[in-house]
Amino acid sequence: MIIINTKAYRKGVGEKVEKLVENCIEVADPKKLIFSVQPEDLLRLEDSEVEVFAQHIDGVEPGSHTGSILGEGVKEAGATGTLINHSENRLEKEKIKASVDKAKELGLTTVVCAQSPEECAELSEFEPDYIAFEPPELIGGDISVAEAEPEIIEEAVEAAAPVTALTGAGIKTSEDVSKSIELGCEGVLVASGVVKAENPGEAAKELVSGL
Ligand code: G3P
Repeated sequence: MIIINTKAYRKGVGEKVEKLVENCIEVADPKKLIFSVQPEDLLRLEDSEVEVFAQHIDGVEPGSHTGSILGEGVKEAGATGTLINHSENRLEKEKIKASVDKAKELGLTTVVCAQSPEECAELSEFEPDYIAFEPPELIGGDISVAEAEPEIIEEAVEAAAPVTALTGAGIKTSEDVSKSIELGCEGVLVASGVVKAENPGEAAKELVSGL
């Protein structure tokens, strides 16, 4: 599984996210890709053949919660899952639990992000579908987690168990993907390696070839 997180990059929002997705699935197997997008872009991708996740949901019920992102809302807009507690949108522990519970109630796949093996262990208690280990200092950089911290990926995989682990940060090559899988992850999260690439389709195809 390769989750392409478009974050709030200019090239990953609005009309550009539609082009990005088209460009990727023209050359890479759409069944191997999931796009994690801004809430207002979910509906744009409703008819696309790729699976689409939200980047966050709040663990609240519909009601008086101005500015919250409703699980019900993202589901209705076509999301099949959600990231929770991404490094760029960290939540308190009880809020992580509330978001996971809400997503589960709605049948959304849950990917909870963690910054360390210790956090992987703590958050696995909430029994999400996946724990994604992403060392914050490597996010957006040129050295991938698979190159820089292979031993810590293994620790994170063990700490997350029995929850299935993913990893991310600086992932750009098929070797990064195959190494992550060899170390026990089921897939990777990637953002800049695809969204900021000159040719996002080729970048996605390269990553898929590492699965
Ligand atoms: O969610 C994925 C992300 O945080 C990794 O970002 O740019 O290092 O691939 P990037």
